[in-house]
Amino acid sequence: MSAFLPSPLRWPAEAIWEALAPVLPGFTVEVLPEIDSTNTELMRRFRGSASTRPRPEPLLLVAEQQTAGRGRLGRSWQSRRGDSLTFSLGLPLQPSDWSGLSLVVGISVAESLDPGNTGPARIGLKWPNDLWLSGPSGDRKLAGILVETASWEGIRFVVIGIGINIRALPLAAVSALATPSMATPSVAAIPPGGLQELLPSIDAAQTLLRILPPLVQAVQAFEQFGFAPFQNRFAARDVLSGRTIELSDGTQGRAQGVGENGALLVHTAAGMKEITSSEVSVRPVSEGDPATVLKDPRPC
Ligand code: BTN
Repeated sequence: MSAFLPSPLRWPAEAIWEALAPVLPGFTVEVLPEIDSTNTELMRRFRGSASTRPRPEPLLLVAEQQTAGRGRLGRSWQSRRGDSLTFSLGLPLQPSDWSGLSLVVGISVAESLDPGNTGPARIGLKWPNDLWLSGPSGDRKLAGILVETASWEGIRFVVIGIGINIRALPLAAVSALATPSMATPSVAAIPPGGLQELLPSIDAAQTLLRILPPLVQAVQAFEQFGFAPFQNRFAARDVLSGRTIELSDGTQGRAQGVGENGALLVHTAAGMKEITSSEVSVRPVSEGDPATVLKDPRPC
């Protein structure tokens, strides 16, 4: 049992509940001082059958600290109490096609935090699930999204996990938190971005209240209409478009945006490839130096 620090934040649980209960019947909000992973916990709660547990209701689970945060492709997700926002939203969802959901989540979060109506957008999207913050020192990872599904009596529930760096960790802290598998030394030398670089006075609680209502609206629009209506909004923030990228199987090509189903289009020597698998990792390479990983401390 670990000793919990007093909470540095006042979470707007009631305001979130009031905003979301009308569109998510049965919705509840839980804030925990510490848990292994909000995604892992919701997956535990949402799996099962009527004989083992009652039908799960939509739930927001916020953790002030995760001890075993998870990222895509089996990677770990590092965060620090007070400096990060880590939460998962679980709800029943029945889209006719699931492709593109994590892109829709990214679009919604990026637009909420950086509407881009006073100049070029500073929060970009890296297919399929990263938010990057651009700045004078280049593009750095700001947030990651992990979408998983569970079934209860044949009803599919989605668990949307989001981790946002509110205050960029200093380099020493990143190195201390990093696992050997997290990044190469050159990559680990570049700390992630923090939201306060863009919105200096925002904290994790305000960030949560700002992103959740539009997020639920976007997910419900996706359930009804699929990814196609979001395609242009992704394109407006696509940080890979036009860049040379390398897939996890070593194939290189030029990223050409995403299709109507959210697949990444890559022009390779063997022709146009459509990358749909979330198991594929993609990294930009700098022209003339294909071994360089660009400014992404936690490549997807
Ligand atoms: C990635 O970049 O690979 C995805 C990172 C997702 C991290 C969030 S933090 C809240 C939720 N709980 C987890 O264990 N992971 C997600």
